[in-house]
Amino acid sequence: MSSDITTSGAAGVGPAASPPVDPILDVDGVTIQYKTKEHLITATYRVSFQVFPADRFVILGPSGCGKSTLLKSVAGYLHPVEGEMRLKGNVVRDPGPDRVMVFQEFDQLLPWKTVKENITFALMNGGKTSSSSEANDIAMEYIQKVKLDRFENTYPHMLSGGMKQRVAIARGMAMEPDILLMDEPFAALDALTRRQMQEELLELWDETRFTVLFVTHSIEEAVIVGSRILIMSPHPGQVKAELNAHDQSHATIGQEDFADLQNKIHNMIFADRVLEDEVIPHA
Ligand SMILES: Nc1ncnc2c1ncn2[C@@H]1O[C@H](COP(=O)(O)OP(=O)(O)O)[C@@H](O)[C@H]1O
Ligand SMILES: [Mg+2]
Repeated sequence: MSSDITTSGAAGVGPAASPPVDPILDVDGVTIQYKTKEHLITATYRVSFQVFPADRFVILGPSGCGKSTLLKSVAGYLHPVEGEMRLKGNVVRDPGPDRVMVFQEFDQLLPWKTVKENITFALMNGGKTSSSSEANDIAMEYIQKVKLDRFENTYPHMLSGGMKQRVAIARGMAMEPDILLMDEPFAALDALTRRQMQEELLELWDETRFTVLFVTHSIEEAVIVGSRILIMSPHPGQVKAELNAHDQSHATIGQEDFADLQNKIHNMIFADRVLEDEVIPHA
């Protein structure tokens, strides 16, 4: 029998194969502007990308390139002046519990509610369940996932920054959104905690394979967290490139491939700065 088919290169973590699958999120030629009294600010210009199930899709770019603007638009808070965003084929028009956002700020939790109550409140208000005992069970499940058991009855002001971010992540995941939106969620943490949180996020992803759209301005973080990385050019934000980072994580920091990818990205972003410098007119 000819059963000796070779499957060389089949080893690996088995990231989501994108080609035949429909995207969860389809961002299609999106231009977003802010109108102020004096100015019309174009924050993103004709940005397109697709996020597939179980992607850890990272948007990477310098400050002001429109990353938060894009996330807010996916969340339904801002509307493009050109192009559209489709979630599972439906044009995004409003916010909804199918998209949950985790922010950088530590004050995104309700201070008058405990860790558990922050989660049960979101579940019941977001229409996830109307049963308080079910909400309780779901909350405890996610509290354990982010390693905060024993802190369920603690109020946010008693928690460290990293712990608060864990609660925000647990709350987001408990909602089981189609896509979890994370806007620089670890940027305000100290370096060690940040590293730990990145690792924990990857562990959680390994367990549940959720789909996440993650924004950062750190090249290293993008390479660690991302399975795919969208690189944006500075203001107004445009897509510069999309790169594959499936094979990189904490485990590969310091290895040649990790450094190569980091350098490649660095050079792409740096190329813009050179151009900007050249634009400055000589005296
Ligand atoms: N509410 C606003 N009103 C006017 N301009 C804004 C507003 N929010 C953001 N911008 C501008 O839009 C651009 C993109 O901002 P933002 O999405 O916050 O960038 P990033 O998250 O990549 O740092 C910036 O030039 C910023 O100044
Ligand atoms: Mg931002």
